[in-house]
Amino acid sequence: MTVQPSAPSTARMIDFWLGGYDHFPVDIAAAEAFEQAYGPCAAIFRSLRAFLGRTVRFVADQGITDFVVFGAGIPSQGNVHQIAPEATVLYTDADPKIVAHGSALLAMTDNAHYIEADATALSGFDPSAYLPGWGSRPVGVIFLGLAAFLDDEQLSSALRQLYAAVEPGSFLVVDFDGLELTAYPEALAMMGPGFHMRDPAEFERLLGDWRVDGIVPVAQWHPEGEPEPVPDAFWGGVAVKPR
Ligand SMILES: C[S@@+](CC[C@H](N)C(=O)[O-])C[C@H]1O[C@@H](n2cnc3c(N)ncnc32)[C@H](O)[C@@H]1O
Repeated sequence: MTVQPSAPSTARMIDFWLGGYDHFPVDIAAAEAFEQAYGPCAAIFRSLRAFLGRTVRFVADQGITDFVVFGAGIPSQGNVHQIAPEATVLYTDADPKIVAHGSALLAMTDNAHYIEADATALSGFDPSAYLPGWGSRPVGVIFLGLAAFLDDEQLSSALRQLYAAVEPGSFLVVDFDGLELTAYPEALAMMGPGFHMRDPAEFERLLGDWRVDGIVPVAQWHPEGEPEPVPDAFWGGVAVKPR
């Protein structure tokens, strides 16, 4: 019998908004309450998942066959191993319940794994047992939906440590919450004090030595056809560790 969680998780709320099956009544209630305060969540998260798809395809097309995903949430609904099925993917998250849920979902998938990792405590992080290319080949680092949970020091420290750990030619896919929710105080209050929005004009400095080709609203990152008509709530880009 499935144990019902007592509290919602943002990862499972996103699964609800994406039309998945990996959420519980407590997550639906929280998602619907949030939508009362800020309506376009489902469209925004579909657009974000499409951004993940385009960026992961772009990185895979550069010959990358190993991906490590931080703050991964629920690994379904067009996630990294589904977009790049030939690659090896290591999903990580700091929430042990999400890790257990994700591991169960991936039980029958040979080239995707899920382990616990806190992006604010990366010293000693060594995924080489899971990713054959780690330490010898460029990899893809996926850092989506996570920046909001880290303050500037935590975020820049994590990105700096990852830059040092990966081979030249590695890619970083990153997004963050822009200032959209400042106009929706009720929604902002629901996110709590640990929620970090950022001015897109000031984000690049947090990337350290990662080189980015531009920080744009995610729907406008190399759209395939017309960009989705969603508010510019999330911004992001693809950065590289130069060779
Ligand atoms: C909003 S969800 C994003 C899920 C997924 N990456 C996506 O974009 O759809 C944020 C996830 O980050 C995880 N998280 C929060 N703080 C973290 C940290 N310090 N290190 C790693 N994961 C963290 C949460 O447990 C949650 O699963």
